[in-house]
Amino acid sequence: MPNQPDVMEKLVSLAKRRGFIFQSSEIYGGTGSVWDYGPLGVELKRNLQERWWNSMVRTRDNIEGLDSAILMHPRVWEASGHVRGFVDPLVDCRNCKKRFRANDPKIKGTPGTPDAQCPACGMKGTLGEARQFNLMFKTFMGPAEDSAAVVYLRPETAQGTYVNFLNVQQSTRQRVPFGIAQIGKAFRNEITPGNFIFRTREFEQMEMQFFVEPGTDMTWFEYWKDQRMLWHRGLGLAEERLRFHEHAADELAHYARAAFDVQFDFGGSLGFQEIEGIHNRGDFDLTQHQQFSGKKLEYFDQGANKRFVPYVVETAVGPNRTLLAVLVNGYREETVAGETEGRTVLGLHPALAPIKAGVFPLVKKDGMPEMAKKIADDLRPAFAVFYDDSGAIGRRYRRQDEVGTPFCITVDGESAAGSSVTVRERDSLQQERVSIGSLKEYIGERIAA
Ligand code: GAP
Repeated sequence: MPNQPDVMEKLVSLAKRRGFIFQSSEIYGGTGSVWDYGPLGVELKRNLQERWWNSMVRTRDNIEGLDSAILMHPRVWEASGHVRGFVDPLVDCRNCKKRFRANDPKIKGTPGTPDAQCPACGMKGTLGEARQFNLMFKTFMGPAEDSAAVVYLRPETAQGTYVNFLNVQQSTRQRVPFGIAQIGKAFRNEITPGNFIFRTREFEQMEMQFFVEPGTDMTWFEYWKDQRMLWHRGLGLAEERLRFHEHAADELAHYARAAFDVQFDFGGSLGFQEIEGIHNRGDFDLTQHQQFSGKKLEYFDQGANKRFVPYVVETAVGPNRTLLAVLVNGYREETVAGETEGRTVLGLHPALAPIKAGVFPLVKKDGMPEMAKKIADDLRPAFAVFYDDSGAIGRRYRRQDEVGTPFCITVDGESAAGSSVTVRERDSLQQERVSIGSLKEYIGERIAA
């Protein structure tokens, strides 16, 4: 399979220049692996999240939504296994004070022995033995900063769903099999973050926990694998850049009976990486919470007159990482026949594009700006549009191509007489004359797919 090009550096620059993504606290030198989403980035992320919510919650009658809190009772994380098991083995260098994963291939020798060499300062014998480092951020609740007041920033949204399993089931009268979906922030003190927004310390998750009768779990697992791959393809991610990766026994998380990742080929040295995990978590989480809370988390099947702890099939995808995949997938530089200046295009799916249409007057006279502004104002309640009258029309098209705007509407000399405009499509560069009255429908149909 051909290696995909590495466009990351160009994307980081485009993302900042055009207002997609900025480094957090940049004026202070930045915060490690934390990013802010600018005006176009937030639109793109919201479009992705809405698409997920629609496909998981709104269009299904067996999945309910939830928005649980980031801060939870600390016992939740003991029950879930995160206090004990969500760890990375790390080694410190006594000389340069840098910290590495114990299995970092750059370390020569065995940490803790005199022959081990620090990959940063090159000293021998200064690397200590591996110590377990928990990836959860800890803070304190209330005024006392002591061990009784410790709380964690959640490292996954899933636990907020498990502890609400019966609240949701009983309030909605859902019957197993059914699911609970949520979108929210998660935090991990990652040791090797990086690759732009690929692995960060603060990120979001879109997770769905599907509660099923034990014994039916692998059938549902296969169902959700298919559904989730279809969703990623529906974002316009190229088929050859998507694949499944099955977790071998030694890769499985502490809670998982089976797991597949959806991987995307980010190109360059990053290559294929996980964007979503699909896990069969069995009854691990509900059983643990029963034990730690002392409260039953059983489902009563009235038809069969039996109680059981459901198994869970989880789909867990990161909007930030998927957004990066969408940007990488869509980025291209090309030359257009008959033009000397090349163009950069973000070939985003129209439904995801932060701006749906640019609206331009061909020239700044003859009433064209007024007419174009009115068109933009009329369309704005329905879609994100951008009015632009500065510079040559070709440059205005290029500026919209670079941020993935699928349509550009131009008011020209014929517009007033015929009540029509030209609509240029980003990828084909085809221009069509469309009546002003039908613009909303014309664009609406094309971005809905
Ligand atoms: N509840 C299961 C769970 O959290 P995960 O595979 O650790 O599973 C699910 O995370 C998804 O969350 C990943 O596929 C990825 O898209 C996203 N994710 C995880 N850690 C991340 C990080 N440090 N930065 C950005 N996204 C992350």
